[in-house]
Amino acid sequence: MIILEAKKLTKSFGGLMAVADVSVTVNSGELVGLIGPNGAGKTTLFNMLSGYYKPTTGEVYFRGQDITKLKVFETSDLGIARTFQIVKPFGKMTVLDNVMVGAFAKTGHKKEARDKALEVLDFVGLFNAKDNLAESMTLGGKKRIELARALATEPELLLLDEVVAGLNPSEVKGVIEIIRKICKDKRVTIVMVEHVMQAIMALSDRIIVMNSGRKIAEGTPEEVANNPEVIQAYLGRGMTKSARG
Ligand SMILES: Nc1ncnc2c1ncn2[C@@H]1O[C@H](COP(=O)(O)OP(=O)(O)O)[C@@H](O)[C@H]1O
Ligand SMILES: [Mg+2]
Repeated sequence: MIILEAKKLTKSFGGLMAVADVSVTVNSGELVGLIGPNGAGKTTLFNMLSGYYKPTTGEVYFRGQDITKLKVFETSDLGIARTFQIVKPFGKMTVLDNVMVGAFAKTGHKKEARDKALEVLDFVGLFNAKDNLAESMTLGGKKRIELARALATEPELLLLDEVVAGLNPSEVKGVIEIIRKICKDKRVTIVMVEHVMQAIMALSDRIIVMNSGRKIAEGTPEEVANNPEVIQAYLGRGMTKSARG
């Protein structure tokens, strides 16, 4: 079953086409990796899928419903959650309170929100840090808060924007395990943008590659890794090193 369908999405900022004519289909239960050099349009695409930006042209369907013009809180109500590439937790609030913000998307009751937040904090391995101020957490901790906040909204579709980038190798492993668990235990469909190839290759059922706003390739991890145009897109920008993690 198709859960998400983006049809010919375009977003221009003045003269710049950040996303140009991109169509994407995601099946329920799939984990789709979205890769491409910096500036390829990945985050802009996420912003259109989750209601942060209205597309210049094109449409987005979630479970068959046209959501192109919906606002963020409306896409959230329907079951779409996303994380942000640049994590900005409320620094002066505790880890628990940050995650409760997500839980309040689903309930107006404080106790229910707290219980939900505690459950997802346990799930992402942050239970013991629940009373810490968010600003005192490492980048790895902040990325987990971001994940937990998104999970607390009980999404059906989770859009992850570089949740692994910038972490050390053992943190990367930890987050990969959490993402696997999200797919398996929570049966959440995931689209993930990531530069860390180890994570993308290990997790993705299918990979979509963007470059300069366009979709240039799509296929299994192996097909994409051997695609000359993909290799060129990375080599051409001197991205080889980070592209390989
Ligand atoms: N709000 C914005 N206003 C103007 N230009 C933007 C905006 N957001 C992104 N861009 C531009 O769109 C292009 C794609 O950016 P982005 O989607 O962030 O790429 P990626 O996430 O793949 O690195 C870049 O050239 C970027 O500078
Ligand atoms: Mg980005």
